[in-house]
Amino acid sequence: MLEIRDLHVKFHNRDREAVAGIDLTIEDGEILGLVGESGSGKTVTAMSIAGLLPRKQCDYRGDIFLNGEDLLHADRKLLRKIHGKEIGVVFQDPMSAMDPLMKVGEQVAEVLRIHTDLDAAARRERAIRAMAQVELQEPEKLYDKYPHELSGGMQQRAMIASAIVIEPALLLLDEPTTALDVTIQAQILKLLKRLNQESGISMLFISHNLNVVRKLCARVAVMQKGKIVETGTTEQVFYHPEHPYTKHLIEAIPTRELARAMKAGGVK
Ligand SMILES: Nc1ncnc2c1ncn2[C@@H]1O[C@H](COP(=O)(O)OP(=O)(O)OP(=O)(O)O)[C@@H](O)[C@H]1O
Ligand SMILES: [Mg+2]
Repeated sequence: MLEIRDLHVKFHNRDREAVAGIDLTIEDGEILGLVGESGSGKTVTAMSIAGLLPRKQCDYRGDIFLNGEDLLHADRKLLRKIHGKEIGVVFQDPMSAMDPLMKVGEQVAEVLRIHTDLDAAARRERAIRAMAQVELQEPEKLYDKYPHELSGGMQQRAMIASAIVIEPALLLLDEPTTALDVTIQAQILKLLKRLNQESGISMLFISHNLNVVRKLCARVAVMQKGKIVETGTTEQVFYHPEHPYTKHLIEAIPTRELARAMKAGGVK
């Protein structure tokens, strides 16, 4: 469904390419993990897919196809159409992504106002359904609340609701749980897995934490300095890493998890 071919992105004010020729595919219904150290190009990759590259500030080349449609070189109008309908995006910090002055439910429904002909009542109904899907309790009541009245975990659920309300084919998640405490993080991961299983939505899940990715993703790609240095099933990458950088990432996982991996005969 999503195919990236030889993607390069170089910002004018940088010497080094942020993305230095990557190939990546995401199959229908797949959750692909993208891991790597800070500055390795994960977010720029997601921005390229999401049509959020500041095109005037960078040079870019290569191809990004979503179900055969070229995203990287599409004009603004087509991009807006594709991105609203086919791709949902969730970022790390829900508070900064939400409009503090707009009711939570209205924010979830907003994408429907832009991209569908549904009337206000139907939009409200769809938004409430999406809020229930992400396990927000009493969504009718929550609809009229403002973001600051929600906990961090609830805000992130609301962001996921607004990303899935239009039923996109692909969800881009850029460190969606990093700002949350461990318990809430685990709940969100479970929720994402359930959404994937129930609706077959494909996901790109970005994290610098290989351990979080291991719990969610069937396949993982490892980025370093703008390149993908290793790709494989999560099993392969976690238990039989080949690239020194991947080994290094795995060694950074807390001891208890590492011990488990070593027991399985993987990390040397
Ligand atoms: N708008 C921009 N202008 C100039 N350089 C940028 C811009 N956005 C990103 N970069 C640079 O591109 C490189 C890749 O950044 P990117 O944000 O993709 O890293 P990342 O892997 O997401 O890191 P992190 O784990 O910290 O989120 C970095 O060197 C970064 O400084
Ligand atoms: Mg990033």
